[in-house]
Amino acid sequence: MVFVLVTRRLPGEALPELRRRLGPPVGVRLWDSDDPMPRETLLDKVRGATGLLCLLTDRVDGEVFDRAGPGLKIVSNVAVGYDNVDVGQATQRGIMVTNTPGVLTETTADLAWTLILAACRRLPEAIDHLRELRWQTWRTLELAGLDVFGSTLGVVGAGRIGQAVARRATGFSMKILYHDERRDPTFERETGAGFLPTLAELLRKADVVTLHVPLTDGTRGLIGRREFELMKPTAVLVNTSRGPVVDEAALAEALACRRIFAAGLDVYEREPLPADSPLRQLTNVVLLPHVGSATIRTRTRMALLAVDNLVAALDGRKPPSLVNPDVWRRGE
Ligand code: GLV
Repeated sequence: MVFVLVTRRLPGEALPELRRRLGPPVGVRLWDSDDPMPRETLLDKVRGATGLLCLLTDRVDGEVFDRAGPGLKIVSNVAVGYDNVDVGQATQRGIMVTNTPGVLTETTADLAWTLILAACRRLPEAIDHLRELRWQTWRTLELAGLDVFGSTLGVVGAGRIGQAVARRATGFSMKILYHDERRDPTFERETGAGFLPTLAELLRKADVVTLHVPLTDGTRGLIGRREFELMKPTAVLVNTSRGPVVDEAALAEALACRRIFAAGLDVYEREPLPADSPLRQLTNVVLLPHVGSATIRTRTRMALLAVDNLVAALDGRKPPSLVNPDVWRRGE
């Protein structure tokens, strides 16, 4: 039987749409759960699959490709980040890898802004203060945080999401600085953003540092002890990209000793965040459980785009968001 393996329930019409568009003879083998497929089950169920539609919690590596066998044509990841997929191995084997860019840009930028505001204005502390009946009077500096408007935003990685975060900053009269591998004159013109050729310079100047780089060998541990030393004591770090971009132990230390003012995190070195993570003990960090793209509409659009990618590949068309185009060129 020719089939695709779907490693999780999908929202909205994505699954019926997939079934309808694939049609016989291609079947859909579904892990009908909201929880991830155990590794052993994935390795078992992927045998003989022609396509794999997976989530960022699935590690898709050489072992998975070996088990799937030579018929596997595409790995369609329901996420913009695809560090869970060994793209090098996939490319060597001629397997297409796709992601879901674009559809989640604005939603993730909104969440980055939620963290910017919450961290600068000490929201978790303020909420606890009220709930735990500690609000007794109005004190001048009680729960006093930092102004966001008029401050300087430092965007590390000015791709789609980084730029969307920066666009919102214009409404807060912020000065925008960015660091990226490439300059983007259109972005600079539209937002007034200033390009900084080094990360160090950005870290020295920014009041809010927001991270929007993919996780690669080059960005793993990008922000560590040395980088925190460069930041202002009043700086706020926001991470909605991938946890391992930040050295979490160094971050916890920087927050604990007030080397920086606060942080807002949606992503972690290990997810879910371990119960004994030192971050949990700190008051000056806002912790969210990787919900950057989590709106009903966006998660549904991500699943539908993943379906588009998968169906295109199996129909012999170039998938709309192919991350390893070499595979396609080789087949042309
Ligand atoms: C979520 O983290 C994504 O990469 O889409």
